[in-house]
Amino acid sequence: MAQQGKVRKAVFPVAGLGTRFLPATKAIPKEMLTVVDKPVIQYVVDEARAAGIEHFIFVTGRNKAVIEDHFDIQVELYDTLRERGKVDELDNLKALQPKPGQTSFTRQQEPLGLGHAVWCARELVGDEPFALLLPDMVMQGGCLSGMVDLYGKVGGNIISVEEVPEEETHRYGIVGVGEDIGDDGFKITEMVEKPARGTAPSNLFINGRYILQPDIFSILETQERGAGNEIQITDAMLKLAERQAFSAYHFRGNTFDCGSKQGFIKANVSFALTRDDIRAGVEDDLRRMLDKI
Ligand code: UTP
Repeated sequence: MAQQGKVRKAVFPVAGLGTRFLPATKAIPKEMLTVVDKPVIQYVVDEARAAGIEHFIFVTGRNKAVIEDHFDIQVELYDTLRERGKVDELDNLKALQPKPGQTSFTRQQEPLGLGHAVWCARELVGDEPFALLLPDMVMQGGCLSGMVDLYGKVGGNIISVEEVPEEETHRYGIVGVGEDIGDDGFKITEMVEKPARGTAPSNLFINGRYILQPDIFSILETQERGAGNEIQITDAMLKLAERQAFSAYHFRGNTFDCGSKQGFIKANVSFALTRDDIRAGVEDDLRRMLDKI
């Protein structure tokens, strides 16, 4: 069994090209597209912070410097807000900002795949368990907190999963369901990337949140390219599963794939409908739009 300790660090791979969202992502990283009034990446960092993460590690690529700026202080803006008495706006900005020294940025020089991006964070993570959050997957209902609780009880490696309609399982990584371990957890019997229609071991898909032991890095170091000619994290996890326990956390909230157009629009509507300040207006507008169509 690998070492077990508090999950203090989280890795956010933000070096992908975002080709599914062109032309929006030609000059703007997809992680900076806004859901209501916050960039996608802010939701994911907030989720990690709420789960007790203390250090936020971003694996960036070219054209992603604006993500680093977003998590920095904006002195002129803060001064202007103060001068104009916009106290709430200023407090809100400060509350979202990581504390000094809590962020690290490293570059994935070539987008060779998610597994390779994670490997680029090895020196910053060091020899301790870490959370991996795919930043284009935005959760409603806080996913990582439940995973951290489960990890505190069972250790090992944890993968979050969520239900998907049977007819869509061929699009996702799907897990096989083993023994129930309580706290919405179960042992994983297998992981299958994009199973052929009718062959999926369950309807639970891997939704982009992981707690992994640092042993994954030595596997990634020699991991060959897999699907899409990219170095895949799933291939490395399958190897790690030969010698370490993998459990699943059954997330009961909603995941929005903000790297896809439909998921991004759904996220905007869904988050808008949870906001007291705009909910009523948005609801009316949606009804009117649907009536007109
Ligand atoms: P995706 O495949 O969803 O991201 O990778 P992408 O490549 O940016 O998107 P499309 O398919 O071209 O639209 C999942 C996550 O892994 C990161 C992405 O940034 C995303 O958060 N990633 C992927 C990297 O950091 N580096 C890579 O080489 C590939």
